[in-house]
Amino acid sequence: MKVLLIGSGGREHALAFKLAASARLSHLYIAPGNGGTGEFGENIALNISDHAEIIAFCTTQKIGLVVVGPEAPLVAGLADDLREAGFNVFGPSKAAAQLEGSKSFTKTLCDEMNIPTADYSRFDNVEEALAHVREHGAPIVVKADGLAAGKGVTVAQTLEQAESAVCTCFSGAFGEAGAEVVIEECLTGEEVSVFAISDGERFVTLASAQDHKQAFDGDKGPNTGGMGAYSPAPAMTTELLARVEREIVAPTLVGMARRGTPFSGVLFAGLMLTEDGPKLIEHNVRFGDPECQVLMMRLKSDLLELLLASARGDISDITPEWRDEAALCVVMAARGYPGAYQKGEVISGLEKAQSESVRIFHAGTRREDGRALAAGGRVLGVTALGPTITEAQSATYKAIDNIDWPGGFCRRDIGWRAIEAEKENS
Ligand code: AMP
Ligand code: GLY
Repeated sequence: MKVLLIGSGGREHALAFKLAASARLSHLYIAPGNGGTGEFGENIALNISDHAEIIAFCTTQKIGLVVVGPEAPLVAGLADDLREAGFNVFGPSKAAAQLEGSKSFTKTLCDEMNIPTADYSRFDNVEEALAHVREHGAPIVVKADGLAAGKGVTVAQTLEQAESAVCTCFSGAFGEAGAEVVIEECLTGEEVSVFAISDGERFVTLASAQDHKQAFDGDKGPNTGGMGAYSPAPAMTTELLARVEREIVAPTLVGMARRGTPFSGVLFAGLMLTEDGPKLIEHNVRFGDPECQVLMMRLKSDLLELLLASARGDISDITPEWRDEAALCVVMAARGYPGAYQKGEVISGLEKAQSESVRIFHAGTRREDGRALAAGGRVLGVTALGPTITEAQSATYKAIDNIDWPGGFCRRDIGWRAIEAEKENS
């Protein structure tokens, strides 16, 4: 079967790696791909926002499955248009992608289905929003309603920060995404992610994973898309997962089906483990990045079979299997990220750093004369397997020390929480 994978990040390089391992794959195209994805398929320069161009490509190439990696094309309705043209698509419809595309949509669904989440209010004007934060004080969380490329959320520790976040949203900094603002109570606890593959009706949860959002060691500094991840997450016990399935995943899928907009694809629930139990922070409608990298390293089953079953609407025969080993991914980013950064520097030593148990997933690179050049904020996701998280971490940093890229930086403490837990249990 020919597969078209949409996207250009580390997540897509990891998906390409596992799709390429499937005996059912005859050819993989990645649109547009990056400097690493060509290892597993053919990069193809399609304009992702031109749905007619993608449909024409799928028709000519007789594509058997389209896998949509990022959220933006899903929110824009790419899956709907491809399905209407008769193609199998892994990823939700535009209506179901509202779970990520609109924070206030998800909050309404939480109310309807009794899904535990942070208390919230929504505002469409700056005065009322400011009055609300002044009344409640800090800490408090201010969110632009729509997609803002991960930049629309402020966890304000002071009233000034909260006021400034409200003003930023309404000033048009996030365009339409900030026309409505959701203000939430600040939850405290440990954050974990749960991924569930759904066919619109049934679901199966994947191995647990946890990421580090802050840019610097000690979980300090600005929020980013994710500076590292690991799997399994020791905090996610079997009992807790069962509770999350019952209280959060199942009611979300039931609620979406009841509305006549069933969700198929991968539901990524970001959770806070509070003293009152797990609460939903947000839903995403795609794999996490870099959580996907660690999940793909641990997945033993055929990824193509799994995604195709979801796309075709019946996952009842699918039980994903996982390696016992742990996986850990450290993101190497361009100095300055998540702020301004340089592009174009040559990265070397990548071949030497890779081995049977260490893979380097490219996130923001491009190829020039066979060399890899930095071309984004998050540039590489160095990922290793190991018998424990502690060992996976040391293998990852050993590989990183072989990479020559003066303009890059990474955190040196990815997985610290899990490593502490392993120490306590040993
Ligand atoms: P989101 O884009 O909604 O995932 O928010 C980004 C990050 O902000 C989350 O991963 C959390 O670390 C943090 N966050 C979001 N909402 C809350 C909340 N209600 N309480 C505490 N932290 C939050
Ligand atoms: N790593 C979190 C995300 O993909 O949103």
